[in-house]
Amino acid sequence: MTQYALALILGYLLGSIPFGVLATQLAGVGDVRSIGSGNIGATNVLRTGRKDLAALTLIGDAGKGAAAVGIAYWLWGYEAATLAGVAAFFGHVFPVWLGFKGGKGVATYIGILLALNWLVGLIFCAVWLLIAAVRRYSSLAALTAAATAPMFAYAFSGEWLTVATFVLSVTLFITHRTNIARLLKGTESRIGDKKPAGQ
Ligand code: G3P
Repeated sequence: MTQYALALILGYLLGSIPFGVLATQLAGVGDVRSIGSGNIGATNVLRTGRKDLAALTLIGDAGKGAAAVGIAYWLWGYEAATLAGVAAFFGHVFPVWLGFKGGKGVATYIGILLALNWLVGLIFCAVWLLIAAVRRYSSLAALTAAATAPMFAYAFSGEWLTVATFVLSVTLFITHRTNIARLLKGTESRIGDKKPAGQ
């Protein structure tokens, strides 16, 4: 039990590192929270026009999820690693350092999945890329990948990952509620658009 609690703490602390905020502030392009959608993720960092910073944010946010899983797996095994991954996702969405107002969790979800089950992670990426290529909405790509993830986890993994993906995907739909409203209204910004979402 102690190891599960430690895995949750480790995952939360790693997940709460806000790479998008750090990258934009350290690069001197301002605070990503004051541009575009206000989200701290790679999609919004791209709206600064800095692809390098967006790539760094994507790698950092995915990497912290994978690191949480990897370290917990190494120390305590697969079940603790799954808990650490879920905690990393919630650390990204509710980081103590940003007053519990964090990101939407897509990149972190990808890192967690790739580390827990590379096949399910790759399928998530493939679904995201397919929808992003066809529709050019980052949010729609993420929502579609998240909606299908529990099904693929059930098919290719066990109950721990199936339950974890269900929890993460439901939460991801909640973090994307404003995106869903904009998609329904036809005002969501597309990948590469620099204008603020909804305008
Ligand atoms: O990764 C978040 C993405 O799905 C939507 O981001 O900035 O368009 O709200 P954003």
